[in-house]
Amino acid sequence: MALLPILRYPDPRLKTVATPVTQFDDALVKLTQDMAETMYDAPGVGLAATQIDVHKRIIVIDVTDDKSGLTVFINPEIIDASKECKVYEEGCLSVPGIYEKVERPGTVKVRAQNVKGEWFETDCDELLAVCIQHEIDHLNGKVFVEHLSQLKQTRIKTKIKKQEKLQTA
Ligand code: NI
Repeated sequence: MALLPILRYPDPRLKTVATPVTQFDDALVKLTQDMAETMYDAPGVGLAATQIDVHKRIIVIDVTDDKSGLTVFINPEIIDASKECKVYEEGCLSVPGIYEKVERPGTVKVRAQNVKGEWFETDCDELLAVCIQHEIDHLNGKVFVEHLSQLKQTRIKTKIKKQEKLQTA
């Protein structure tokens, strides 16, 4: 297994719309294992392939505290979402150090394939609902801060530039 470098916002490659996975082979299994290792190492609760510059519709998520709930979602689609929305303070491995409140449907039903290509459906609530919507956004070329006002996005970009200057100084 290997740790993969994570793209940092506002890297333009994060705007790429990922294409569907059509080949369910050993390379896909290896990629999802590397993605999981990268996510756990970060540490984070979710990672979309977009974030490691692989533009395929692949997500790994584990919202448990003890790494017991790893789920791989290939070609995920939200097939139902609650009208009721919830606000959650989100963060992202591609936007380190930034946490902002985002409003999304509180529960969603997701249809996806596993690494073998078998379809499954799952009802997501709480943190899992937030996470799967956040990661599907990545596959569609959207980072969570793009749900915020332009003013907030500009402030975040300024803050990130300052952080990068400090790191390279
Ligand atoms: Ni993210």
